[in-house]
Amino acid sequence: MIKKGIILAGGKGTRMSPLTKAVNKQLLPIYDKPLIFYPLSILMLSKIRDILIIVNKGQLNQYKKILPDGNNLGVKITYLEQTKPRGLPDAFVIGEKFIGKENVAMILGDNFFYGQNLSKLLLSSTKLRKGAKVILHKVIKPELYGVAKVNNRNKILKIQEKPKKFFSDLAITGLYFFDNKVTKYAKKLKPSKRGEVEIIDLLKFYKNKNELSADLIGRGGAWLDTGSIDDFYKTSNFVSAIENRQGLKIACLEEIAFNNNWITKKNIRESMKFYGNCDYSKYLSKLL
Ligand code: TTP
Repeated sequence: MIKKGIILAGGKGTRMSPLTKAVNKQLLPIYDKPLIFYPLSILMLSKIRDILIIVNKGQLNQYKKILPDGNNLGVKITYLEQTKPRGLPDAFVIGEKFIGKENVAMILGDNFFYGQNLSKLLLSSTKLRKGAKVILHKVIKPELYGVAKVNNRNKILKIQEKPKKFFSDLAITGLYFFDNKVTKYAKKLKPSKRGEVEIIDLLKFYKNKNELSADLIGRGGAWLDTGSIDDFYKTSNFVSAIENRQGLKIACLEEIAFNNNWITKKNIRESMKFYGNCDYSKYLSKLL
């Protein structure tokens, strides 16, 4: 079972400037919560309780204000800083000590997932023992993403970053599961033309050893972008539509922790005090 997870929550956020000049993208609101709550909820739904959040140098205090240590969520949160955005695989170099001898999940801080069978898919992915696993989702414009072609047993046949020529419409999402060799491979990577180490190159180490597999989020599930201002608001509207229709919140961290039996009603009361008089607290009060 994978018990450790990393959230990569640094980045320049260039596309969302000037919103991201003073505040990191992951602290901006997707409807009623900071964006970081959504990837964190995905790790918690995967029953991962030991979590490393990687943030930009100088932004640690902002994160600690909203997510101090995880005690009230029944998880352990550790923070490390990335001095500059060297690329996604840098997470496994920064996180080498945190990972230790174990396997690890990684989610990008700006990725949003939602859907009926998601928890099941997550729990099956954390069973990974050897190799790596990516989560794929069908998109209209594969040329904008890392793309994978799979056979009928979900074995990966080909992967390519932003393919100019169509070969599959399955995008590689920002949620990955790796065995312990990931740090060793990440250290071998050389920066690409844009000056960053690339996750697709890391995945190729596994692919070349025939150790890369995939799971698919079907059409009942959603994987949404939050990289541009327009996408950000679309995702926000999506959350608002679902929450106001059902009366159930997406990514309410205390609710997930409570359902996992990680926290008690006392923790929920403490969280309500922490958030103060707001809708989120009113929602928490319904759990009591
Ligand atoms: P990107 O969307 O590639 O980059 P960004 O968030 O800086 O935005 P932009 O392209 O507009 O400049 O990053 C994906 C996620 O990974 C995002 O949550 C930021 C995070 N990230 C890091 O934490 N460190 C890094 O070195 C990189 C490249 C990204």
